[in-house]
Amino acid sequence: MIKVLFVCLGNICRSPTAEGVFKKLVQQAKLQDRIKIDSAGTHAYHVGEAPDARAQEAARNRGIELGKLQGRQAVAEDMTEFDYVLAMDHENAENLYRICPEGYESRINLFLSYAEDLEIEEVPDPYFGGNSGFDRVLDMIEEASIGLLNEIRSEHNIK
Ligand code: 4NP
Repeated sequence: MIKVLFVCLGNICRSPTAEGVFKKLVQQAKLQDRIKIDSAGTHAYHVGEAPDARAQEAARNRGIELGKLQGRQAVAEDMTEFDYVLAMDHENAENLYRICPEGYESRINLFLSYAEDLEIEEVPDPYFGGNSGFDRVLDMIEEASIGLLNEIRSEHNIK
């Protein structure tokens, strides 16, 4: 099993969106038995909560249902459990490095490093902005998800 964890700050906006988008892509590729997908936040503000209503609505408009997801906080064991630990921004990555067991640091990367045509490195935090921020976040996440799946296919010899 190849394991992918998406990480943001609260685990109610960006990372559950990435979880939903990437799960859909993996299902369409019929790879759901090969790739396990989860998400987490580096802070505990929203543990146990469903994704933000705005994130749910924006995803639903693209045929993705996030309502059953529940926020959880990232833990040190995530870095030993997941092959790909993908942070939405530099702050999230720094938070992960701080709790990462020695020797597993290379599993932590910025998610947008997989978006081939995007110049930016970070998925902007949409929490304090308006609804349009969520659509922009979805666009970025969809692009990075395509690049990530291509990378996983080539690294793991999946046709
Ligand atoms: P996320 O967005 O990290 O994309 O889930 C946020 C959610 C909540 C907060 C910050 C960012 N907050 O400060 O509560």
